[in-house]
Formats: sequence, C-alpha cells, structure tokens
Amino acid sequence: MKNDIQLGKSESVADTANVLSRFLDGITYRCFAHADVSELAENSDVPVINALSDKHHPCQAAADLMTIMEKFDDTEDLKISWVGDGNNVLHDLMLACAMLGIDIHYAVPKGYEPDEGVVQRTKDLAKKNGSKVVATNDPIEAVKGAHVVYSDAFVSMGEENMEGKANDFDGFQVNEELVGHMDDDWKFMHCLPAHRGDEVTDWVMDHEQSIVFDQAENRMWAQMSLLSFLINPAAWDAMAEFMQIE
Ligand code: NVA
Repeated sequence: MKNDIQLGKSESVADTANVLSRFLDGITYRCFAHADVSELAENSDVPVINALSDKHHPCQAAADLMTIMEKFDDTEDLKISWVGDGNNVLHDLMLACAMLGIDIHYAVPKGYEPDEGVVQRTKDLAKKNGSKVVATNDPIEAVKGAHVVYSDAFVSMGEENMEGKANDFDGFQVNEELVGHMDDDWKFMHCLPAHRGDEVTDWVMDHEQSIVFDQAENRMWAQMSLLSFLINPAAWDAMAEFMQIE
C-alpha cells in the first residue's frame, strides 16, 4: 500500500527495488510520476510492469487493442478516435494503434495536447506501419466516420487539485449527437471508471454498441498473458504454440 511502502521516502527506490527483486519474480507498480516506475525498473533485476503512471498505461492499451481486434475482423480501414484529455491512456492507445498499423484520430482541447515525445514516437511507428495519426481540437472531426470512439475522465488520478480543469472540456462529451457522426456500427470504449454525465452519457455507456465491459474483462486476459510472457516463458511458449501465435 502506498503509505506502507513509502517508495523513495523512507528508503531509496533503488534499495526497495533490490529487496523486492529478491522476494518476487516480477513487480507490478501503479504510481503517479512516471519517473518513479522508470527508476524502479532501472534498479530491479525482475520485470517491472507499469500498472499506470501519469505518462503511460500500457496494460490498458494491451486490453484495448485485444478488444478492438476481437470486434473487428479487418483492421485495415479501421478508424479509432479519441475525444478528451491528452493523457496517459491516449499516449498508449496511440502508440499501440501505430504499432499495429491502425489509424488514430484524436481531439483534445487546446492546452491539453499529448506529450510531444510520445506523439513523435507514434508518428515514427505509424510511418513504418503505414497508418495515420491525426490531431485536432474538434471532436466532430475526430469521430467523423470512425468505428471506435474512446473517452476517459477529464480529470485523472493525482490531478484532483486541478480545480476547474473539467470546465475546459465543453463539447468533449461523448453523447448521442456526437456518435451520430460516426460509422453506423460505432463502438464506444472507456478505460473506466467512467464519470457518467461528464465525459460520457448513460445513453452511450449503456448502448448495445458500447464495448466497455468487454474491454474491462479483457484487462484480466491481457494481463494474465503479460504475466505469463514475462514470468513464465514455458507457459507462454506452450500457449503461443497452441494459439499458433508467432
Ligand atoms: N487517465 C486516467 C486513467 C484511469 C484508468 C487516470 O490516470 O486516472
């Protein structure tokens, strides 16, 4: 628990990493400052899994792309859109889409752009894999003809003292009117917890084309496979052979 371990406070991160590496086969760490999980990883002898930092949310992205690939047989002409903050979840969604050659269009309010370094990495990957990365401040432009719209809380964990931040997101709610601009077979995604009435309405969240709970379930499957890949390579190899994954 965060108040018990006091990472980097009563003991240096490197010392904690050293101790935990002797106890454990892997460390899953949810933090705020990304530098904390990076420092832990640099000083650990066992795999460190970032379970969320203010910059990245890779475990979420693994489940998200698993969900997208389950719902759409062909990702060739797929358009994924994001409407909201330029945050950790967007960072890894755009990186994951670009890794798999899937187009990503994101709309953020002015002043809430994603990290420039992450955007550049995404563009490099997209170029290599033949997909698009398109930024706008207009939610309608981002979702036009899109197959998926993804949203997240306007105010992330650790930002609770950023009073008034949510006021900058007028027009960024995913609602019936906004999804009306999408492909008829639109899907709605959210990393949860959702703030119904803020970034998404009940109508969208509870719609039969909302796939948020499939996505939530896939967090379990994706994270199980991540653990077996990192910690139990023999089990991973056996499963990969069974599933015919290269
Ligand atoms: N952007 C959100 C994601 C929660 C899963 C946060 O960092 O709080």
